[in-house]
Amino acid sequence: MIRNFLILIGLAMTYACTTPNSEENKSESNIDELIGQMTLEEKVHMLHGSGKFNSDGVERLGIPDLKSADGPLGVREEIQNDSWAPAGWTNDFATFFPAGGGLSSTWNLELAEKYGVAIGEEARARDKDVLLAPAVNLIRSPLGGRNFEYFTEDPFLNKKLTVPYVLGLQDQDMAACVKHYAINNQETLRGSIDVQADERTIREMYLPVFEAAVKEGKAYSMMSAYNRFRGEYLSENDYMLNTILRDEWGFKGFVMSDWGAVHSTVESAQYGLDIEMGTELDDYDEWYFSEALIEAVNNGEVSESVIDDKVKNILYVMKEINALDTAQRKEGSINTPEHLQVAYDVAAESIILLKNEGYILPLKADVVNSIAVIGDNAKRKHANQGFGAGVKTKTEVTPYDGLVAKFPSKTINYAQGYAEKYLPNDLNRSWGLPIDYSADPELIKEAVAAAKKSDVAIVFAGSNRLVETEAEDRKGLKLPFAQEELIKAVKAANPNTIVVMVAGAPYDVSGIHATVDALIWSWFNGSRAGDALADVLFGDVNPSGKLPVTFPKKLEDSPAHATNSFPGGPDVVSYEEGILIGYRWFDTKNVEPFYPFGFGLSYTNFAYGEVSVGEVSNGMIKLSLDVTNTGESDGKEIVQVYFSKEGSDVERAAKELKAFTKVDLKAGESKTVTIEVPVQELAYYDVAASDWKVESGEYKVLVGASSRDIREETLVSINE
Ligand code: BGC
Repeated sequence: MIRNFLILIGLAMTYACTTPNSEENKSESNIDELIGQMTLEEKVHMLHGSGKFNSDGVERLGIPDLKSADGPLGVREEIQNDSWAPAGWTNDFATFFPAGGGLSSTWNLELAEKYGVAIGEEARARDKDVLLAPAVNLIRSPLGGRNFEYFTEDPFLNKKLTVPYVLGLQDQDMAACVKHYAINNQETLRGSIDVQADERTIREMYLPVFEAAVKEGKAYSMMSAYNRFRGEYLSENDYMLNTILRDEWGFKGFVMSDWGAVHSTVESAQYGLDIEMGTELDDYDEWYFSEALIEAVNNGEVSESVIDDKVKNILYVMKEINALDTAQRKEGSINTPEHLQVAYDVAAESIILLKNEGYILPLKADVVNSIAVIGDNAKRKHANQGFGAGVKTKTEVTPYDGLVAKFPSKTINYAQGYAEKYLPNDLNRSWGLPIDYSADPELIKEAVAAAKKSDVAIVFAGSNRLVETEAEDRKGLKLPFAQEELIKAVKAANPNTIVVMVAGAPYDVSGIHATVDALIWSWFNGSRAGDALADVLFGDVNPSGKLPVTFPKKLEDSPAHATNSFPGGPDVVSYEEGILIGYRWFDTKNVEPFYPFGFGLSYTNFAYGEVSVGEVSNGMIKLSLDVTNTGESDGKEIVQVYFSKEGSDVERAAKELKAFTKVDLKAGESKTVTIEVPVQELAYYDVAASDWKVESGEYKVLVGASSRDIREETLVSINE
């Protein structure tokens, strides 16, 4: 026992007194020594769940259990070890952080890091080791059920946000579990569908976020996805897990399966899975990575060194996050005012102004005395609905609460306006149900009455987490619950009608856009969502979010639907649009979107000066331009830089995002913005050479306020 204690002390001490290389070697040999003392049974028990969210350690050697928690919206409430029922704790209230779409529409990398830090501190306070986040699958279709959790349709924005998030999170002595690796872009048939996508497409579109998470974010763990890729399940996919993740990218952590995503013992063991996690079966001995794995080693199908490697991957991570040395470990904090502030900051910067004709917004607090607050989403909470991970939180400020808190003395006339309604069905669940699109005349009547007696009417429409949910893709773009009818009636009753959409994915908002003068987009935006919205509506915060996804005019305009390849099935889905995902498709095929990628207005205006390109040196393209706030309120602008290569040797999108920056400008202020673009970002994946290739020649540099609002253009010449 004393010897084991000394080994653990040795593991902890290596940091302090050795050089990096010898440090690595020494701690590796300490880990090897520890593994040398384990029985096969002890090792294998570290490789499978022994509860819904934990796997065993080895008590006699001082190795604790590995404890994980969901997930993207905040640290999930504690559930019972062997069932999904709440554990009933009273100290597991957490901050509800804005969902993926909220964070990504800030385009703010500092906020991404703060988000990672805050959620990491909360997870530590709950004594967790692994946070099952961030969820970073690319948004391939507007209908994807988990779009609200994911970030974007663009691989560059995706990786830029993910790296600081992972770094911030892991700095709290936590492991990120980046999910879902990989090419898991739909919920329909997610447990079996075989994704076929060509090599360039996966390298340029779907994998960069994971690659950056590993190489730049040093992510300690990955979650293997439910689906198959090129015939093999992701938990036993040699190409994805061994060739790409470990051999090419140098990943040193562990791969944990999605819950119930394992289908074999020997193949999963050989092809790169480290830990099996599950959902239904509570007899943990019956799992693929339990007794069956011991047997596979005993009968020679799996070598014990393969088991040792897996244990080593886990111990490596445990050492890095100080799980083996609790004295050094960060303790974290939960549900603090600081974390609620992060949730507020992200929400405030995520809100997108989509229309503001006649400058109805921002509302003037000294003029507006009565407000009709209309819509189910004015009072609905989104922390914990639908299938999948939510957050048990003490604080969720709804839009209604936010307005009441901001203006306790104003008259607020509330009307529900529309109700969630589903058609009769025999599905034994509450989420993903067939939607009833019929209007509710009584509720509309009440809403009209409220609108008539108020100075302004604000309709909070959109969806909720029963409509947008894990395990089910949406059926179409149509807004649920006849909201357009409601909005038309309210607008007819009060010309000062503003619509705020609360949702996590694109819908057809054309009818609403045409009806009202002011339209705002918000998300499932966390604990302080309502405060942030009230501040944006009344101009204390100038909206600065921009869309991380394209809104199509109609579903068939979206690439996966234009190519009739979503959701595919019954066995295979083939990504026919290839590299032309999102705006890449719309721009290349000259299809007009409804709202383009990168779009978002402000209460002020920004002027872009001429772009100049300096010498290309040290692999960097340096751009600079002046950006001026020409309006009367302070604001933030997201300057977007797209590149385009004409006459390329290979198919290319008309333009691709390669850099962006968010500039904070006082009214009237002008700043020179300098932006660096690594030449390597211009590379395409050369399939024949199995390598990235930067083409020499001229590239167009397009600088703008959205993918369709290019303000300045120049050329840069690259000699490789
Ligand atoms: C989801 C994962 C989640 C896991 C555990 C699965 O259904 O796909 O994202 O982390 O459940 O809750």
